[in-house]
Amino acid sequence: MVGRGGASYVLILYLYLMWNFDYWSRRKVNGPKPQIFYGTFPNLLKRRQHMADDMKDIYQLYKGRENFVGVYLLRAPQLMILDPQIVHDILVNDFKHFEDNDVGKLINRDKDPLIAQNPFILMGDEWRQQRSLLSPALTNSKLKVAYYIMQNICEDLIQFVNENSGPLNGKDLALRFTAESLSDCILGVKANSFSRSAALPITDNVRKFAENNTAFIVFSIMVGLCPKILNFYRAKFFPPDCETFFMDLMNKACNLRIHDNTNRPDILSYLLEIKNLYKLPEVNMYSHIMTFLIDGLDTTATVIAHCLLMLAFETECQDKLYKEIMDAASENGKLSFETLNSLPYLDACIHECLRIYPPGLWATKCCTKPYKMSNKNGSFLHIRKGESILIPIYGIHHDSHYYAEPEKFNPERFLLPQSSARHYKNKGQYLGFGDGPRICLGMNFALMQCKGALSALIRDFSIKSNAKTKSSYKLDAKCFLASHHGGVWLDFQKR
Ligand code: HEM
Repeated sequence: MVGRGGASYVLILYLYLMWNFDYWSRRKVNGPKPQIFYGTFPNLLKRRQHMADDMKDIYQLYKGRENFVGVYLLRAPQLMILDPQIVHDILVNDFKHFEDNDVGKLINRDKDPLIAQNPFILMGDEWRQQRSLLSPALTNSKLKVAYYIMQNICEDLIQFVNENSGPLNGKDLALRFTAESLSDCILGVKANSFSRSAALPITDNVRKFAENNTAFIVFSIMVGLCPKILNFYRAKFFPPDCETFFMDLMNKACNLRIHDNTNRPDILSYLLEIKNLYKLPEVNMYSHIMTFLIDGLDTTATVIAHCLLMLAFETECQDKLYKEIMDAASENGKLSFETLNSLPYLDACIHECLRIYPPGLWATKCCTKPYKMSNKNGSFLHIRKGESILIPIYGIHHDSHYYAEPEKFNPERFLLPQSSARHYKNKGQYLGFGDGPRICLGMNFALMQCKGALSALIRDFSIKSNAKTKSSYKLDAKCFLASHHGGVWLDFQKR
């Protein structure tokens, strides 16, 4: 029995949870009816399907009628864009109206110095400054140095597969590779990621903030229910033990580099150079290094694992890729940096995999300057500064209007000049790495890692799906990140 006082509290709570739900109807914007507490994406909490599938369902339902719809992330109103051309305008042509990523609002940079310089969370002039400071770390010549370091790691990867019989978890394998490769290419130290030990310090600690960060997830949910929390509180993103681990790791790596006096023209030496040049505090440089680990470890591993999975199902594509690699490889079976970047089929396989399972399943942007957007019925919406824009990347990538048989892995669709990845990107239909001034800063580094690992594995092994592997492409509802349901279980047969 709920007493009269209790009933009043329930009523107040009900009114509080409901009052904002006319935000879009008052602006004459259509959209799905929000549910109390859950908003329009119930599976953020219910987990019966992935939240990106909730977005895809809304996208499919409304795209023929509207250019945009009003949605609610829990209670927070967002404008979901359904027309790829408008998406392209937001990211590229009219970027000055949408300069910031919405997620930046959640971070307290004083509490979280290790993420404080990451361009992804920075806004306005600070974003511009840090992005231009970090960009020269990823020039072609630095990538080339990283590639030759990475080739040894590819050999360790092959050896690890040779020594481990039975089905392998493709995501786990790919994470070992990206952890080792980032550690050696960025920090110049070995991480022992291919040891048999179950403990993989870098990967385990990245998981602590990327996947199992309960405190920050609860905080984000609270903000979704009551956005005003941000006026007086922001939770810490890095769990303290994890922060200590990375601080120690980077401290050791930098000291080693300084004392060893190694002259390797790589990413770390560039970062040490700018630290000395601009007299940057040590922690700023650590934050730049962390950008690679935060943004590049899981994303790249996800692409490598899913691409192996898709090639295991589509054996004809795998044969075609094997032929392309063998035709281009030198006598020792290796590919030079230039050759690796000139293989069209390998490139198409990766973009097709990124289309089906993009690690960035959606993007949220913040309106930084008022903007006028037209709808299909000829009406206009005036978007206000501070409003949130949601781009349903996964929905657009699976739209049969742009991609025939969208659930089929078909790299050929990216091979014709009139249908290259660039062609789709210019129409706002392909957003694997985003687009415009905020396009993924590590794109070429990530592509190099994916291509290096995939070409080495396909050269030496025939990849087969295991009986445990689920054949339809469906996102795992239990994972927040893009992840194949049931796991990526693969058999590797020596060629
Ligand atoms: C296959 C792996 C990767 C994928 C699929 C990926 C995807 C993305 C996407 C979709 C965005 C948002 C772009 C936008 O807002 O338009 C992004 C931003 C970003 N990525 Fe990546 N990324 C990958 C790897 C990396 C790596 C290795 C780094 C290392 C430096 C990195 C650094 C960044 C940074 C710093 C941003 C923010 C850029 C800005 O806001 O200016 N990413 N990435």
